[in-house]
Amino acid sequence: MARYDYRSQFAGIEAVLLQEIKDLLNNGQYVLGDAVFDFERDFAAYIGTEHAVGVNSGTDALILALHALGIGRGDEVITVTNSFHATALAIVRVGAIPVLVDCRPDTFLIDLEQLERKISERTKALIVVHLFGQSVDMAVVHDIAKRYELLVVEDCAQAIGALSGGKNVGSTSDAGCWSFAPAKNLAAGGDAGAVTLNSTEISDRIRQLRHFGQATQNEHLTLGYNSRLDTIQALILKRKLARVAKWGAARAKLASAYKERLEGLPLAFQEGAKPAEHAYHLFQVRTDSRNDLLSHLRKDGVDAVIRYPIPIHLQPAFVDFGYQVGDLPVAEVLAAETLCLPLHPAMTDDQLHLVCDSINSFFC
Ligand SMILES: Cc1ncc(COP(=O)(O)O)c(C=O)c1O
Repeated sequence: MARYDYRSQFAGIEAVLLQEIKDLLNNGQYVLGDAVFDFERDFAAYIGTEHAVGVNSGTDALILALHALGIGRGDEVITVTNSFHATALAIVRVGAIPVLVDCRPDTFLIDLEQLERKISERTKALIVVHLFGQSVDMAVVHDIAKRYELLVVEDCAQAIGALSGGKNVGSTSDAGCWSFAPAKNLAAGGDAGAVTLNSTEISDRIRQLRHFGQATQNEHLTLGYNSRLDTIQALILKRKLARVAKWGAARAKLASAYKERLEGLPLAFQEGAKPAEHAYHLFQVRTDSRNDLLSHLRKDGVDAVIRYPIPIHLQPAFVDFGYQVGDLPVAEVLAAETLCLPLHPAMTDDQLHLVCDSINSFFC
């Protein structure tokens, strides 16, 4: 039982997409071609922001957003240790200091009470992560940010379609940062990302940064990056965007089928999401016999995986920031006890039952 089914994502659009790619190869609009701006327009409309700027990865979306918002040397940015490495890496890349906080044991998301306690005079911004697809409560985040005059960046890499307070994640903050890497709910055919935002000034700055910091050809106003969304990836994303809501509904249905079928077993789920507040990018279960369950599932041919086995604060790359084992204990326990089960929109009931039968046979 595989975790992905890339092929099914192209059913019904393959011929038209291949023709569009062929046309592009012939017309030579390889860099910042029309398709990039078309996708940006469609994506901003979908998320509900004034602007979307395509960049070449979710990691760069975070880096360019922080850079454009003026975050740099000596600034502190608070984020959560229970996330993918890139969330905190981006903070370090712009010269700022990542201040990592723990997550909650029920939602697996950033603990907002702890976040508030970590705010200092040097804090400039918060990055919240809608981890596994479940939205953080943005009303609470914006309330904290307003009281302490902080910028808010949302790491939306895993959460396309998830709502918070009835609005799309990535639509209400200083920047929403998106990854369209191949495993994501909206996936390119390689690396791709975007920033969504409502400020024309910051959006223009990101456009400049992604394109060598140039205002016009040969005029480089600032030290930028080479981080444009590739035109072929934009063609793919534009076609797939029209399907992402349908895929999201299929994911939600599978997630509730999992919960129903696994009810009563000694497993916990990611809690706290109201309907539409979860995009079910990853379906996590928690058990203190996680490693044995993983081996059992693998033996039965189920491609379960651990996300994430080492929290950011304990990664060798972050050793200079001085964190020790035990500093952020909830994330450390989740790293030892959570397991990601296969879930993708083309998954059949039979496949889901196969996974559940294997889990049942492990516990019973
Ligand atoms: C939470 C999170 N943030 C950031 C990223 C980075 O995105 P990318 O791989 O497109 O650079 C990812 C994806 O890998 C992610 O899951």
